[in-house]
Amino acid sequence: MVSTAPANGQRWTADGYARNGRFVADLGQPVLDLLAPRPGERVLDLGCGDGALTAKIAEAGAEVVGADSSPELVEAARVRGLDARLVDGHALPFEAQFDAVFSNAALHWMKRDPDAVIAGVRRALRPGGRFVGEMGGQGNVAAICTALLAALDEQGADGAARHPWFFPTADEYAARLRAHGFAVGEIALHPRPTPLPTGLEGWLATFADPFIAGLDGATRTAALDRAVALLRPSLCDSAGRWTADYVRLRFAAWLR
Ligand code: BEZ
Repeated sequence: MVSTAPANGQRWTADGYARNGRFVADLGQPVLDLLAPRPGERVLDLGCGDGALTAKIAEAGAEVVGADSSPELVEAARVRGLDARLVDGHALPFEAQFDAVFSNAALHWMKRDPDAVIAGVRRALRPGGRFVGEMGGQGNVAAICTALLAALDEQGADGAARHPWFFPTADEYAARLRAHGFAVGEIALHPRPTPLPTGLEGWLATFADPFIAGLDGATRTAALDRAVALLRPSLCDSAGRWTADYVRLRFAAWLR
């Protein structure tokens, strides 16, 4: 499958995501429970990916629209029969159309301007609507980030400048939500050590493109191999099973 490259260098392919990232949706039940979709209500799934959770929201009887900035993943969601739109999360085009905006494992990719994202969510909601989401929070995949930064710096490639993710504290994100007119009902960090079904190499192949974008092949390989070597003693057990240091930020907020 051909993939496109957005500004941060992340390339998504539906098959790569299905192979290495299926656990992201599989572990989405707590945030789905927090959303508690009701039959007949209209829900926007922001950063729907290949639509695995969008489909569950639809199964609950809600009328759901998926939105994602990846053409490949939008197409994969459409193949499931979902209404999926190609949309930039920083410029949501919806006006007072939804009872709820839902988001799982996507908001941390919208690093350029988190306030523009929240402003778009607010515009998309009807009065009294809710915004329910889960994203990476402060400390998320911290060991992996630190190893990548160190490995890239060793290669003379500025690791920090490539860091693509926004992992806020609960206090920071709550303040941003309140500044946009939301009442925050619940927001907390949840450490969640996460087994990686295809190991760290599989995870890096699917999620870490921005760190190596634009580097030549030899430099990429050297940086990724070094990061894996740095992480093996802490994230890989004696049977070769990798576990990543995920920390989720889960929240529910209502428009006042
Ligand atoms: C996350 O869901 O927290 C995540 C996924 C991919 C890269 C970074 C973080």
